[in-house]
Amino acid sequence: MPLSPPIEVTDSCLETIPDGWHLPGLKGVLIGENLLQERVSQLAEAIRQTVPPRQPLVVLALLSGAYMFTADLVRRLQGDYEIDFLGVSSYGSGTQSGDLRWTHPMQTELRDKHVIVIDDILDTGQTLNKVTSKLQTERPASIRSCVLLEKRLPTQRPCPFDAEWIGFRIPPLFVVGYGLDFGLRFRQLPFIGILDCEDHERGTD
Ligand code: XMP
Repeated sequence: MPLSPPIEVTDSCLETIPDGWHLPGLKGVLIGENLLQERVSQLAEAIRQTVPPRQPLVVLALLSGAYMFTADLVRRLQGDYEIDFLGVSSYGSGTQSGDLRWTHPMQTELRDKHVIVIDDILDTGQTLNKVTSKLQTERPASIRSCVLLEKRLPTQRPCPFDAEWIGFRIPPLFVVGYGLDFGLRFRQLPFIGILDCEDHERGTD
């Protein structure tokens, strides 16, 4: 079955924060744990159906925000493949992405391999644009990307990037949880939440 379009999420009706997760600064739950896990299963199934069998495959997770998503995704993605990590961080300030800084190198070589880049969130598109351009220079057989979240932007995406697999489309709000941080906090939340203050700087990627 083909993957359904991204699940549209609004912030008009936030879910209540589950017991034990009332962290200071957290306003509410945008995407609850059950829905997240259900969608991760759908993404894994869609990827499994698309990836050519018996060909070298690398699942490349972008650090650090995609670590929890990747861990859940690969546990549902059977098969024989490599998992590697690439660290990227933005020099940007506020919620704007700036130039990228490479913070952790890959271990594997990509030449003639199929590559699936996993990221937490597609915002302006700059990160995935730059990462995939850099990876192309290694001459992989193919590069595709899977993102858990895509932000709806008030204006057209300044740096167009189309991910093959997208979990949810969310409002243009800063989100935390499920690997996404604000000042290194909130990554441990098993859901996607929003903060009670819109006046914040970005996470640390
Ligand atoms: P771009 O604009 O390059 O941004 O598509 C993608 C990267 O920026 C980070 N990002 C966020 N991190 N909450 C976060 O914790 C957010 O709402 C958010 N929006 C963007 C993230 O690292 C992503 O890979």
